[in-house]
Amino acid sequence: MDLEGNVALITGGAQGIGKVTALLLARKGADVAVSDINMEGASETAREIEELGRRALAVEGDVSNPADAESIIAKTVEQVGGIDILVNNAGITRDRLLLRMTEEDWDAVLNVNLKGTFNCTKAVLPAMMEQKSGNIIGITSIAAKRKAPPGEICHSITKAGIELPEDTRMCFQPLIAALIDVARRSMAALECTSVTATNISLGREVS
Ligand SMILES: NC(=O)c1ccc[n+]([C@@H]2O[C@H](COP(=O)([O-])OP(=O)(O)OC[C@H]3O[C@@H](n4cnc5c(N)ncnc54)[C@H](O)[C@@H]3O)[C@@H](O)[C@H]2O)c1
Repeated sequence: MDLEGNVALITGGAQGIGKVTALLLARKGADVAVSDINMEGASETAREIEELGRRALAVEGDVSNPADAESIIAKTVEQVGGIDILVNNAGITRDRLLLRMTEEDWDAVLNVNLKGTFNCTKAVLPAMMEQKSGNIIGITSIAAKRKAPPGEICHSITKAGIELPEDTRMCFQPLIAALIDVARRSMAALECTSVTATNISLGREVS
């Protein structure tokens, strides 16, 4: 896969899977913007991307805040020169048994994982529709596909909300899947050259 000439934005790219993804996309030829609440980590990822000979930008922003999401996208478009790939990677867990889970835990996980994906996907659409192409990638989890272990309900609910339904006869669509579907249809109606919406479910089955 040659991504030369493409611009990618990875949310939560300061460490972990986001950082590895950002570096992989850079190795494939993309210029990469890295957003995170951890600017020190995001700047280090951007530095490593530049060492690979690609353009890089570190952007501070909390994906759960709609204004931050808009600002992350705007800075990427202005300073890196467009946006072809959005990877909605930023995510947190606050795994606790239900009786020990606080309202703050619940809100935090839903706000970052689910609302954050909504905020960034919504914010990126105008730019992708204008350029008539775009790729939106959701990082979900195997936890969305199987019965969640006790204590993991928050995380699995947010990931199930992002999953694209495998069964197209389903009348219920998870919130973010519906948004991505709308995006895909709107962009197809504009005869976009390439429109993809993909989810990658991470994790492994525990037997
Ligand atoms: N690690 C796993 O085994 C696993 C399994 C399934 C799914 N996932 C998913 O993969 C993604 C990355 O996981 P990871 O293990 O690399 O996590 P991680 O904790 O190592 O990294 C997450 C990054 O997101 C950033 N972040 C947190 N809140 C943020 C916010 N509000 N706005 C912007 N950035 C924020 C953090 O600062 C951090 O840099 C998550 O969506 C997670 O749910 C991970």
